[in-house]
Amino acid sequence: MRLFHSRVARVAGSTLAAATLVSTHVGAAAPAHRSALAGLAGPRGGPAADPLRTLAARVGLRIGTAVSTDSLRQDRAYRRVTAAQFSSVTPENAMKWESVEPTRGTYTWDDADRLVDFARANRQVVRGHTLVWHSQLPGWLTSREWSAAELREILRTHITDQVSHFAGRVRAWDVVNEAFEEDGRLRDSIWLRALGPGYLADAFRWAHEADPDARLYYNDYNIEGVGPKSDAVYDLVARLRADGVPVEGVGMQTHLDTQLPFPTRMRQNLQRFADLGLDVAVTEADVRITLPVDPTEQLAQEAAYTRALQVCLAVRRCVSYTVWGFGDAYSWVPDAFACQGSATLYDEQLRPKAPYFALRRTLQLAAGGRRTAGGA
Ligand code: XIL
Repeated sequence: MRLFHSRVARVAGSTLAAATLVSTHVGAAAPAHRSALAGLAGPRGGPAADPLRTLAARVGLRIGTAVSTDSLRQDRAYRRVTAAQFSSVTPENAMKWESVEPTRGTYTWDDADRLVDFARANRQVVRGHTLVWHSQLPGWLTSREWSAAELREILRTHITDQVSHFAGRVRAWDVVNEAFEEDGRLRDSIWLRALGPGYLADAFRWAHEADPDARLYYNDYNIEGVGPKSDAVYDLVARLRADGVPVEGVGMQTHLDTQLPFPTRMRQNLQRFADLGLDVAVTEADVRITLPVDPTEQLAQEAAYTRALQVCLAVRRCVSYTVWGFGDAYSWVPDAFACQGSATLYDEQLRPKAPYFALRRTLQLAAGGRRTAGGA
């Protein structure tokens, strides 16, 4: 306990220093990394600075990224950064239902398997994403009506087959993704309509049966701070745990926007989940900017990335901090949010940007006082 408190004090005390140190990068030209060497060489080919994963390991944290399997296959610089900087990978799309079972009963695991092999070769853990969601479902599933019994069997088969396929190779699963509305009601999805709220407990039980060693998460956006949605998630996971359902973590996606307030009381929010005996994780961090980018927005972006990491560092059960991709050329943001972009740690040429250096500095500062426990 003393270790925990001194670590928290250390991290909190570092906040000001971190902000001061990292702000010197804003507006300065990025170091002259050649993209083929991105993540390995230091500025001007000098000695390599410690990558994020090395610094994070010193404080018992996994640092992760979402990975596009197409880019991993085609782009050498992208592969290098993925391997050099991160100790956890999440398939951005390759494990979603429409990717793994585009035709009923015919599984297409190739892309996901390649990523899992890449992770093993680079001593990375894999966060599996995602088993039960309302989005990116295959056409065969959404294009007709099913009875409740049929749909329950389809879901059970999907979870069982997918978790079994990756058993022992995926550290943690986002079993259920985005089941709530902003006001805390359950989302009106194909699953809720046919199966009622019981599908949530069933999903965790089926996943656990298929791989008892995988850490099973509930994952959502806009639950980073205290509010009606995170209250509803809290009530759900508290009830599931009281009923003996094997939910073991809550993932906070952490898709932030420089024009919106930072999540309300994020540290207290993560801590209350931790106090239920759950792991917590930042699972999809990015901070989007309304284009064109200006220096004030860049500063706000750097602060938001840093604050989210500081919160994770201050909560002992926060086991990983994953960014949702690491290069602006690969980010989902411009496709999903009109007139927004520049949301990741690296620019379009895969040169690290100010928030990358801010995260590195924050990890360096935290290293003196932190925990020994690590995780997915
Ligand atoms: C996004 C991917 O990044 C895009 O490539 C895809 O077109 C749509 O999905 N919350 C999630 C992720 O849980 O799966 C989403 O990923 C981003 C929001």
